[in-house]
Amino acid sequence: MELLSGYPGRFMTLDELENASRLPRHDIKAAILHLTEAGFDIQESGKGHALLSLPDSISPIMLHCGLKTRVMGSEIHGYKTIGSTNEAARRLAESGAKEGTIVIAEKQSRGRGRLGRTWHSTSGQGLYFSIVLRPQLDFTRLPALSMVAALSVCRAIESYGLKAEIKWPNDCMLDGKKVSGILVELSAELDRVEYAIMGVGINVNQRAADFPLGLRSTATSIYRVSGYKIIRADLFRKFLADFEKSYHTFHRYGFRLIAPEIIKRSSVIGKKITLVLGRKKIPGTALGFDSNGALRVKEKDGVKIYSAGEVSLR
Ligand code: BTN
Repeated sequence: MELLSGYPGRFMTLDELENASRLPRHDIKAAILHLTEAGFDIQESGKGHALLSLPDSISPIMLHCGLKTRVMGSEIHGYKTIGSTNEAARRLAESGAKEGTIVIAEKQSRGRGRLGRTWHSTSGQGLYFSIVLRPQLDFTRLPALSMVAALSVCRAIESYGLKAEIKWPNDCMLDGKKVSGILVELSAELDRVEYAIMGVGINVNQRAADFPLGLRSTATSIYRVSGYKIIRADLFRKFLADFEKSYHTFHRYGFRLIAPEIIKRSSVIGKKITLVLGRKKIPGTALGFDSNGALRVKEKDGVKIYSAGEVSLR
């Protein structure tokens, strides 16, 4: 597949494919059959086989093609429909799945958001996936993890020429509307983290009408802002490559090394905000983050630190 996609539209004979891939002929034939069944537009003529176009598929075979990561995505489980990818990833983690294992779905029937909300997951237009992580880190350092992922979402989106922002603690914004959310769920005993499930939802190719009425003014997609549709597998691979590096840096050197890139994209730092914490509404100015990614807020009676909450700008 990598061979054919390297030369889109060019016919290659079985001999050429055999030489270039160093695979036996029957493996090549099996791969061509597999790809055709998975929806790839492969044409056969007297001149050989050619891949005519890439489908917007997020099947594991497509996601693996050209993926340059070492750990993240080493195993990918793909579903057409699933309740929640976080839930499926949790089950895999419980049965020993290794770090970097991913569950991805075209559609979720019970996509979960933070604070008991649901995540609207229309079929075939977004990216909904969860990664099994096994961080060897102190419990207190984990709140920053969702921002590390949010940074990778922003950078992947920026590669299409758009300007994305991070809204603490875990939202990515485009044009002031939410384009992506991250839900990290932990399994821990005392201060030892057994595993973390990092669920990422990105609105990619949805039109305005694909969102329920109640979400249209607060949620957006890459397509709504840019006007062009993108290949979701490409966005996924960009995210994963970036996240693997940032996760390693975060793991090894801590949040401080990554914070400047997050602050550069933050939609709240330096702004007057209202922090909603349960029933409390706390007015203040967002000053920055502490070393664990908690928000430092200047209030009337001094600077306070918050590791959770919802922020709105005043
Ligand atoms: C939020 O902003 O509230 C977090 C949304 C997280 C949604 C993703 S979609 C993939 C993964 N599976 C889920 O059920 N939720 C997360």
